[in-house]
Amino acid sequence: MKRQIILGALLMVACATAQKPEKTGKEIFENRCAKCHGKDGTKGLWGAINLKGSQITDSERLLTISNGRRLMPSWRKRLTENEIRRVAEYVKKLKS
Ligand code: HEC
Repeated sequence: MKRQIILGALLMVACATAQKPEKTGKEIFENRCAKCHGKDGTKGLWGAINLKGSQITDSERLLTISNGRRLMPSWRKRLTENEIRRVAEYVKKLKS
């Protein structure tokens, strides 16, 4: 009985991961962010800040992406915490 429950739980986890493959920071950025920020972070639609020149700290970056700011949408409900972390890392790399 216990064994069946464990197997069932494992199966659910396996299905959940199969349906939702983890996206890389680059993929997330190009799908969700590039329309305003541009592929290289410099497009600046609706006053989107040039991400190459961004001066904010790592935690401010995570907060801005999670909560949004003025015309920048909030991503907390649409991306997982891990996805936000990965896309933030990618944004940071755009500066170099
Ligand atoms: C609808 C357009 C739009 C989309 C889509 C968008 N942004 Fe923004 N973003 C903005 C705007 C506008 C600002 C400037 C906010 C302000 O004026 O305070 C901004 C600011 C930022 C900042 C702050 C930069 C700084 O130096 O202060 C970061 C980081 C950022 N965006 C990352 C992202 C990421 C990552 C995504 C995708 C998950 C994304 N943005 C999607 C419009 C957008």
